[in-house]
Amino acid sequence: MTNKSALITGITGQDGAYLSRLLLEKGYTVHGILARRSTDTLWRLRELGIADQVVLMDGDLQDLSSMIRALERSGADEVYNLGAQSFVGSSWQQPILTAQVDGVGALNVLEAVRIVNKEARFYQASTSEMFGLIQAEKQSETTPFYPRSPYGVAKLMAHWATVNYRESFGMHASSGILFNHESPLRGIEFVTRKVTDAVARIKLGLQKELRMGNIDAKRDWGFAGDYVEAMWLMTQQAQADDYVVATGTTTTVRDMCDIAFEHVGLNYRDYVVIDEKFFRPAEVDVLLGNPEKAMAKLGWAPKTSLRELITMMVDADLRRLA
Ligand code: NAP
Ligand code: GDD
Repeated sequence: MTNKSALITGITGQDGAYLSRLLLEKGYTVHGILARRSTDTLWRLRELGIADQVVLMDGDLQDLSSMIRALERSGADEVYNLGAQSFVGSSWQQPILTAQVDGVGALNVLEAVRIVNKEARFYQASTSEMFGLIQAEKQSETTPFYPRSPYGVAKLMAHWATVNYRESFGMHASSGILFNHESPLRGIEFVTRKVTDAVARIKLGLQKELRMGNIDAKRDWGFAGDYVEAMWLMTQQAQADDYVVATGTTTTVRDMCDIAFEHVGLNYRDYVVIDEKFFRPAEVDVLLGNPEKAMAKLGWAPKTSLRELITMMVDADLRRLA
């Protein structure tokens, strides 16, 4: 058990909830930034039974002063920057907000660390979306980036700012280039959860069809609970570095639908309707990660198959709706 303190931006999100649980289990005092919203954002922490075990502080990634205060108040030894406008589809509608929160916001956290405690270890939630129009069949830490969305562009700035602060100021700043990871706590706007929620509704007679965009897109999907372990392992290394975190297999959205519908004895072809509304101005057709470095240096490996993940999500949605 440790007596360290951690600060998490994005603590109310999917990864923030799983990372909080992991750090609490290890004995950390967990602090989190709460960007005040009118809706209930604590449901994930409640679902994991840890809402009253974390220390929440008001703040916003766009507000440097609130980040400095959070660093001071938390006395954080480790800072995990998970906060973001993380839905790629929305980033074309809100490109400037996305750049401010995901790009400049990361810089604000790096600056707060630099100002308050340069020795604190920093983790940046980077993304496979930075590979975009892929430049290698399997993407690794050395594959050139080619972002295809305002979200990917903003995240690329944050990634390079992390590398730059490591090289400029000797900060222990790591960038985790994580491929898609999902869970029963995934936001409903993302494709896996949209599908598993719809499957549960259709099975229960609450919905008749599922309208979708490009179901030929391919993603390398893993389980968020496995991926937060890689985040923590990065901050424990003697040297900060960049790591790809992925499963090393890729699957079409179509086949993911097939798994979800099949789990409740239905055929996706009877329910999925293609709707132009869900196509994107520029698509990332395929992502496939090479996690060899994370496996070799961090001793990390994914534990959950896509079938296990999707059936876990369908079962959770069936339980919620029942
Ligand atoms: P998520 O569920 O969308 O959570 C995003 C979090 O950011 C929420 O807690 C949200 O707060 C917070 N946030 C949004 N705007 C903010 C602002 N202006 N100031 C402070 N906090 C703000 O995302 P996730 O799936 O957990 O992903 C975590 C991080 O990893 C994100 O940076 C994402 O871009 C990145 N990432 C995710 C994946 C993936 O497949 N999940 C893959 C690669 C990288 P509210 O709850 O109040 O909205
Ligand atoms: N959301 C959504 N809704 N996506 C759809 C739909 C639909 O109805 N139909 C097809 N898709 C396709 C999208 O076009 C995309 O190719 C794929 O499904 C996955 O979409 P999302 O689940 O929205 O995820 P994403 O890959 O765009 O972004 C997620 O992963 C990134 C890592 O690669 C997010 O979590 C990002 O924050 C993360 O960085």
